Amino acid sequence: AGQDEHRDGSSHRRQVVLFSLPFQGHLNPMLKLAAVLHARGLGVTVLHTDFNAPDPARHPQLTFVPIHETLRDEATSPDSDILTKLLALNAACEAPFRQALASLLRRGQNVSCAVVDGQCYAALGAAGRFGVPVLALRTDTPPRCATCWRVDELVPHCPAEEKLDELVPDLEPLRVRDLLRVDDCDTDEMCSFITCVADAVGASVSGIVINTLEAMEASELAKIRRELSLPAFAIGPLHLLSSQDSAEQSLYTPDVSCRDWLDLHPARSVLYVSLGSLACVDRGVFEEMAWGMAGSGVPFLWVVRPGLVSGEEVPSLPDGFSEEIRNRGKIVTWAPQREVLAHAAIAAFWTHCGWNSILESFCEGVPMLVQPCFADQIVNARYVTHEWGVGLEVGEVLERESVAKVVNQVMVGEDGPLMRERAHRLQMQASAATSSAMDSLVQYVLSRAL
Ligand code: UDX
Repeated sequence: AGQDEHRDGSSHRRQVVLFSLPFQGHLNPMLKLAAVLHARGLGVTVLHTDFNAPDPARHPQLTFVPIHETLRDEATSPDSDILTKLLALNAACEAPFRQALASLLRRGQNVSCAVVDGQCYAALGAAGRFGVPVLALRTDTPPRCATCWRVDELVPHCPAEEKLDELVPDLEPLRVRDLLRVDDCDTDEMCSFITCVADAVGASVSGIVINTLEAMEASELAKIRRELSLPAFAIGPLHLLSSQDSAEQSLYTPDVSCRDWLDLHPARSVLYVSLGSLACVDRGVFEEMAWGMAGSGVPFLWVVRPGLVSGEEVPSLPDGFSEEIRNRGKIVTWAPQREVLAHAAIAAFWTHCGWNSILESFCEGVPMLVQPCFADQIVNARYVTHEWGVGLEVGEVLERESVAKVVNQVMVGEDGPLMRERAHRLQMQASAATSSAMDSLVQYVLSRAL
């Protein structure tokens, strides 16, 4: 037993219990937060699903406890949409999460609070019912959170076509269409999911932790604090606070051969293309992306992950595209993304606008081309293009000619330098973000006890 442990295995350190949904974009920020809380003297227990389980060997300072959920196929199938996955995971995790937490509490662990994935309403509610102070970790942006908590009021039923481009009062720059675009998901089902999250936050949560920085979203954060009457800790970008790159949890093995390939290219000459860990596109979009990149004439590094093209476990490249790759492209199944974005050769990032990807791009001052696919990505994309001014839309309907044009606009056109300058300003803000928000969070946690 370590010096902090009693003989019965209980600990006199204040303990924090964390639980994340098993998605790449959720696990990474949660594990970063776990590492930072541990470094600040708290004991940390990570409850986790068996599916996409974190590797304890990469985080020896943390305690890991599997909840042993039973998942239906639709929770993990690449063919399920994100909403189906979220609903199935919530349903599957509720009872085993409750049992695992009950067992920790029975063992007399000195649990100060639980930090639970802000989209896992089942676990938020379960932790709240034990009387444990609960913090919801949002791995997306404040505006997206705000749209979640006010959905009934904000989403008009069947808005007329001409209303779609109207700005939503109090949520500019968002338009009505940005709140409605939830991909293939049934809008009523999405609203009821969002309502479950809002109810769990209302009933069980005593604070919100958000992976963003105060300076960038001050007014949105103020709105959340006001509307929810809860403390909101903007502790991001989390990946800058924890230096544990080697402990990075990756669901796929990064192909590091892209380092040497990037080294061969001049500064700011390469387009990096990745749609994150979950999004998938249909065959037609994939082909337009490919030929659009080829037509732009710029060198590109493209992450073509298994499942990226719907219905294809391993996507096949378009006929004749290998020639283009020989000329100026590199395809990998997974990239060491943070390292890629930091490479001098990268000029722009074509992204699906997952929140982690956007933060990582800001932190390297890289402008973006946005192609949001679902959920928060739509709101994030709108902020990138119309609030922060560091990106251009690839286009709602992708066609190779317009793709080639917009790629050139961001890489070599007039817009490029301006966006790069703004991105550089955001980079400065991100690196100046102190750990004072983390100090407040730790103080808050220490002030709570069962
Ligand atoms: C999901 C949702 O899609 C997103 O909208 C939400 O904000 C978080 O959860 P995901 O699709 O995984 O996220 O995207 P993102 O948030 O960008 O996270 C992807 C992570 O995987 C990033 O940290 C990125 O660095 C990493 N990554 C991605 C790699 O390391 N290599 C790659 O090739 C691609």
